[in-house]
Amino acid sequence: MPGPFKPNDAPVWPLLAKHRRAAQRFSLPRLFEQEPDRFERMHCSAAGLTLDYSRSLATAETVSLLLQAAEAVQLRDRIEALFGGGEVNPTEGRAALHTSLRDAGAGTPHRGEIEEVQRRIASFAVTLRAGGWIGATGRPVTDLVNLGIGGSDLGPRMVTAALHGDDPGRVRCHFVSNIDGADLAQVLAGLAPETTLFIISSKSFSTLETLQNAAAARQWLSGMAGREEDYARHLVAVTANPGRATEFGIPEDNIFPLWDWVGGRYSLWSAVGLPIVVAAGVDNFNELRAGAAAMDEHFRQAPFGENLPVLLGMLGIWYLNYWNATSYAVLPYLQRLRLFPDFLQQLEMESNGKSMRTDSRAVDYDTAPVVWGSVETNGQHSFHQLLHQGTRFVPVEFIAALEPGRGGDERHPWVLASCLGQARALMTGKTREEAREELLKEGKPEDEADRLAPHKAMPGNRPSNLILLERLDPRHLGALIALYEHKVYVQSVVWHTNAFDQYGVELGKVLGKRIHGALTGGDAGDLDPATRGVIDLYKKKYGK
Ligand code: F6P
Repeated sequence: MPGPFKPNDAPVWPLLAKHRRAAQRFSLPRLFEQEPDRFERMHCSAAGLTLDYSRSLATAETVSLLLQAAEAVQLRDRIEALFGGGEVNPTEGRAALHTSLRDAGAGTPHRGEIEEVQRRIASFAVTLRAGGWIGATGRPVTDLVNLGIGGSDLGPRMVTAALHGDDPGRVRCHFVSNIDGADLAQVLAGLAPETTLFIISSKSFSTLETLQNAAAARQWLSGMAGREEDYARHLVAVTANPGRATEFGIPEDNIFPLWDWVGGRYSLWSAVGLPIVVAAGVDNFNELRAGAAAMDEHFRQAPFGENLPVLLGMLGIWYLNYWNATSYAVLPYLQRLRLFPDFLQQLEMESNGKSMRTDSRAVDYDTAPVVWGSVETNGQHSFHQLLHQGTRFVPVEFIAALEPGRGGDERHPWVLASCLGQARALMTGKTREEAREELLKEGKPEDEADRLAPHKAMPGNRPSNLILLERLDPRHLGALIALYEHKVYVQSVVWHTNAFDQYGVELGKVLGKRIHGALTGGDAGDLDPATRGVIDLYKKKYGK
């Protein structure tokens, strides 16, 4: 059971705890009555994004204390360490320099190698997009299939979906991540080996799902006429382990490097982003990077009180560590951002879902809330009921755009109105009295109105943030992604977690391999009875 939140000895933590007790009385509608300028004071903008946190359970005092807390963990120094190539990933002895990939200006660490790879990415994408990548049988490639998982899938998949149709080339992009053969089969069903190119995207080049899919893809390619050595023209790798990619049969010229100073879930800015460049073009990828670079600059320079990632991160700390909000919902009101919640789940939960501090002490407080959500307005007809009337306290992050960009139409005001309507409903709720009045106006008899009013009343006082993009385009999307990357970093600094390792994923992988051995004829050995029981059922079914 987590104790009082006190990540270090600074006096601000008990002050925040005391303030939290006073905050029990906060009522959002009343706060707005008392402070009519709340919106003016509690929104700020950078890189074309506005963070409106006026509907948060916070006052000027709350924000001031949270910013003192950010100072108390030396956040400013830690930001400089991130950008300057400091060892911010101490368990693996590495820097985390994804920021260098968006703006390799003078003085940027690794500038030379970044620029060289970017040139190769651009030239590959230009050739492919123009229909100039010729396959083994002399036909141009028309379809690209990215085989990767986790960070080697979610980022490029999300951005490619968001930018779909922006400057499309002649090549369609597809993504396969799951080891369940149905994933690959579904994608390959409409494709021909002669005109398909696979990118095997794996930083380690040892990830089970990706290698299994790559082997299946190679097998599929072998159905094509021609010499086996020519199939290699249909395989490209993105990896930090070129030796393994070569062993797999990928020609050296088709291997794009990745570096240990780019974490998997922060890698879409590197060659892992190849599908983005193929789908949306070099200029749009550069715009994406430029948007992220603008957010980087803001994160580095802006005072904490106007700093979007700092404010967002510290408000997250407020809700998790002081209000026990163990989850939060992220709700994009933009169809093209439908995969954003999936992307954020890895970014936030793989980065900060830790119980050990960087100083090797166990945390005695919560880290990383569960992130969930879906594209809107679909969620309104699904889980919003729980958000409005359920027993759980779930802060919400709305993402919307003033201008929807491509694909949006004259219905956009409906989209924005739906988003603002939900935010307002969460905030103001509806009293029993109001509900009763409405029922009477509808013509219900008094006893019926009395009976139904409590069911129709809504508690309100449920907080939300709104992140408003000027427009959904590559530049603002880049800024949005960087905003969340930095928010995660801010929180890791407060929680003293290492946001750049992920040891927790290892054990399940090792056990999976052992169990696979047992399922396919090996000995179940000292596995537990529950696991052995299912293995026996499987073996009986398949007569093994
Ligand atoms: O299993 C987790 C993980 O290591 C993620 O951190 C990573 O993004 C994903 O697997 C894929 O790893 P790789 O790019 O090495 O195949």
